[in-house]
Amino acid sequence: RSVIYYDEVDSTNNAAKRIARESDDGTVVISRIQKSGRGRLGRPWISPDGGIWLSIIIKPKISLAHASRLTILAGITVTKIMRDMGVDAVIKWPNDVLINKKKVCGILTELNAEIEQIEYVIVGIGINANNEIGDFTEELRKNSTTLKQETGKPVNRVELVQDILSEFEQQYIRFNTQPFSSILDEWIELSDTLGKHVTIMTPTRMISGKAIAITENGSLIVRKADGISEEVIGGRCMYEI
Ligand code: BTN
Repeated sequence: RSVIYYDEVDSTNNAAKRIARESDDGTVVISRIQKSGRGRLGRPWISPDGGIWLSIIIKPKISLAHASRLTILAGITVTKIMRDMGVDAVIKWPNDVLINKKKVCGILTELNAEIEQIEYVIVGIGINANNEIGDFTEELRKNSTTLKQETGKPVNRVELVQDILSEFEQQYIRFNTQPFSSILDEWIELSDTLGKHVTIMTPTRMISGKAIAITENGSLIVRKADGISEEVIGGRCMYEI
């Protein structure tokens, strides 16, 4: 299995995309620094030295409709490994990992498909590990944390990456051999979103209500005050307190 390491790159997701066609299933691209790291919803992702910025190229035999399931796998993977380290990590729908209500990891999944047939999926994982939160903007600082900050000491990044990649591989084997419902059950256990009152902003609408379920494709079912439930594929999720 190949791992491609950069000292600096624009974005590991971009680098992965550039080589995806001729790469094997499971190829990993990792960089010390990203110059133009990308987040979800077109946001930038600040990626200084000390963090973990990696992308996994996957060539799954699944339909386009099921591609978001790989994001769910990545969220489960990172959260489990962090819990093994002794931190109280939870998944916030759709795919943030939080510790003490602050974001420690984001996941950006992108894919290339032609006529419902997936050519490849890039699962990009960004973890605030030993990077300094002081490098962030004021807004980000309020809502983000790092593993170093939460555990009180720098983490061993090489070990952490190894643990994440081998756990992801286990999860991927399970994904290919077991019903997805068993994976969803694990997501539900690791997530803190279900049962909460949420407001979700999408480019076209805003939905508020109680998060009551997650579907087989990772959409959230939100029951609004009028009693009507809606399915939301993605967006920016805020918890009401
Ligand atoms: C988000 O929460 O908005 C998703 C952030 C994803 C960041 C990772 S870092 C590795 C990979 N390369 C990128 O440019 N983005 C993802």
